[in-house]
Amino acid sequence: MSVESLGYLGFSVKDPAAFAAFATGVLGLMPGEADGRFRLDDMAWRIAVEAGEADDLSFVGFEVAGAAELGALGARLAEAGVGVTEGDANLLAERAVTGLIACRDPDGLAVEIYYGPTLRTEIPFASPAGVDAFVTGAQGLGHVVLATRDMAAARAFYQDLLGFRLSDIIRMGAGPQFGFEMEFFHCNPRHHTLALMPVPLPRRLHHFMVQVPTLDAVGFALERAEAARAPITASLGRHTNDQMVSFYARTPGGFEVEFGYGALEVDEATWRVARHDKPSSWGHKRPH
Ligand SMILES: [Fe+2]
Repeated sequence: MSVESLGYLGFSVKDPAAFAAFATGVLGLMPGEADGRFRLDDMAWRIAVEAGEADDLSFVGFEVAGAAELGALGARLAEAGVGVTEGDANLLAERAVTGLIACRDPDGLAVEIYYGPTLRTEIPFASPAGVDAFVTGAQGLGHVVLATRDMAAARAFYQDLLGFRLSDIIRMGAGPQFGFEMEFFHCNPRHHTLALMPVPLPRRLHHFMVQVPTLDAVGFALERAEAARAPITASLGRHTNDQMVSFYARTPGGFEVEFGYGALEVDEATWRVARHDKPSSWGHKRPH
């Protein structure tokens, strides 16, 4: 039993208007019906942006198939001593879902698990920047990379309770004294929906990732980012573990976004956990 995909993200940012301009003009997300909501596909919204001081992720939503799965996960969390609340009518309307439970991860991030999202198939996805589509469906929204102060506790929560499976580990940094290990987890064929870094960053969210179906769509996004003078925090490159070709830009919220293509998919039947000593085969250079 596990969550099935990353469903939605909520950001709290100091400048929601700048974030909205970036989300639509650079990333190519479609504005949703409500203010501060953005679509990547048929779902009524997948990214919510609200005004706040944090410049960080404020909540994350993971999807399950239905009421039975939601009930089972809620029971498992409660049994492990995690405080779980059931979403009331207001929250269900706000999130546009059928059922929802909420709790906090060991670092305090609001984690929601839901089923039955509202779809807007009658208003087809149309990107204001001409992005044909994002890779979502069974693979969900994309991925998030979270900093944690307690890797063992975070791993116990996401792996043992939410049901994420380890994909691989990357040793980051130079030398045994200064390095740390990132752990990458999947809950569907997407190589990682979640990665954990045991580093006390000033914010929980290092970056979120959205994926497009063609290399050209990454190239066009890079050109839009450069034209908008968004800081490119990692040049075009290919990751060692999921083999995604991507670039990173700093969003107006301070955290980064990865925009990528071509990641390999996990086949649960044959996948073997691996280790890497570098995050990228080539590229992903920091600016000088
Ligand atoms: Fe990433």
